[in-house]
Amino acid sequence: MRSFLKTKTAIALALSVTAGSAVADGHGGVEVLHWWTSGGEAAALNVLKDDLEAQGIAWTDMPVAGGGGEQAMTVLRARVTAGNAPTAVQGLGFDIIDWANQGALANLNDVAAAEGWDDVIPAALQQFAKVDGEWVSAPVNVHSTNWVWANKSVLDANGIAVPETWEDFAAALETLSAAGVTPIAHGGQPWQDATVFDAVAMSALGPDGYRSAFIDLDPEALGSDAMKEAFDRMAVIRANVDDNFSGRDWNLATAMVINGEAGFQMMGDWAKGEFLNAGEVPGEDFLCFRFPGTQDQVTFNADQFMMFDQGGNVSAEQAALATAILSPSFQSAFNVVKGSVPARTDVSDADFDACGKQGMADLAAAAESGNLFGSVAHGHANEASVKNAIYDVVTAHFNGEFDSETAVDELVTAVEIAQ
Ligand code: GAL
Repeated sequence: MRSFLKTKTAIALALSVTAGSAVADGHGGVEVLHWWTSGGEAAALNVLKDDLEAQGIAWTDMPVAGGGGEQAMTVLRARVTAGNAPTAVQGLGFDIIDWANQGALANLNDVAAAEGWDDVIPAALQQFAKVDGEWVSAPVNVHSTNWVWANKSVLDANGIAVPETWEDFAAALETLSAAGVTPIAHGGQPWQDATVFDAVAMSALGPDGYRSAFIDLDPEALGSDAMKEAFDRMAVIRANVDDNFSGRDWNLATAMVINGEAGFQMMGDWAKGEFLNAGEVPGEDFLCFRFPGTQDQVTFNADQFMMFDQGGNVSAEQAALATAILSPSFQSAFNVVKGSVPARTDVSDADFDACGKQGMADLAAAAESGNLFGSVAHGHANEASVKNAIYDVVTAHFNGEFDSETAVDELVTAVEIAQ
């Protein structure tokens, strides 16, 4: 109910902001709909805003709070239905393909050709940025979800080394629990549960099992013993969060790790933006490492900006925004702050911190070895209907409605119905 009300308020706000906006038609500026509202996210977005404003392009901000972007997508649907699409919209994976197939997006081929996008944007991103040979969105970054963020002094004080295996991790959780520290900072929202599940499922199924289950949607893999193990591990995670986890925003969970109230958070690398925004230094104040058992894999999601067709060709402002997003200097400056890594393969890692350098190296290695997979939680493995079906089962299990065996059965059925 609360989130429904929030969504209604967001929609009303979106419509009223637009009604009063001089640039909603795309002339003279850009109106940008996004969900980057946490401290770290806003700091990163400012890099883009400043870049555009330095070119004399006015920016109308249309933030819709809600990690993972579900609320933003609800607002977007309302705007498009009202015939009033924003100029540029943050989008993820299969959602972009969906909007392109509905004919809602402007063609960016001229910008892409002038800037040589084909040569520098990796295939894993092109599959979501280019539909039927047409560039329809501008990739901003590559995030990945199979990370753990840890408070270094909490780990040191409890004699915990970076866990290498699931068993090490489970032992570390027990140690913290016995010491009276919340082992895992978590926000109980479906997209956050699913983000944790990306990594946990990868650790239990391995790369072949993840591919069969979540990319190929093979019922046997979805219903396998390894999947039951994945849910058993989720139950261990659930047993190690605090009592107030329900509904907590992801950045407040990150703050618990920053403040030393909790040992770990399992979250995509946008969490790093929060640590940096709080003045924390990787390796000194906090640690980043791949979820134990997924060190060779990367489950990724890439933020992109879709340019909504404003009736005719891509506008000069949309083209300028797309060009700015893919410029090598912006790719470095933005991603250093955001926690993600560049969407181009030719950007130097010189300005990135240790976590960023590792992120870039891991991404390149995973792409090379065939271990780079779309994130289920962030819409890069399946279309929205399947993603939402998986969310429902993962969250119901996390909240104790299903035991692991029932969750496996429900998953097989839910995915079959959603296709
Ligand atoms: C993701 C998005 C990230 C980050 C996160 C939390 O879906 O790709 O950029 O912002 O949500 O809001």
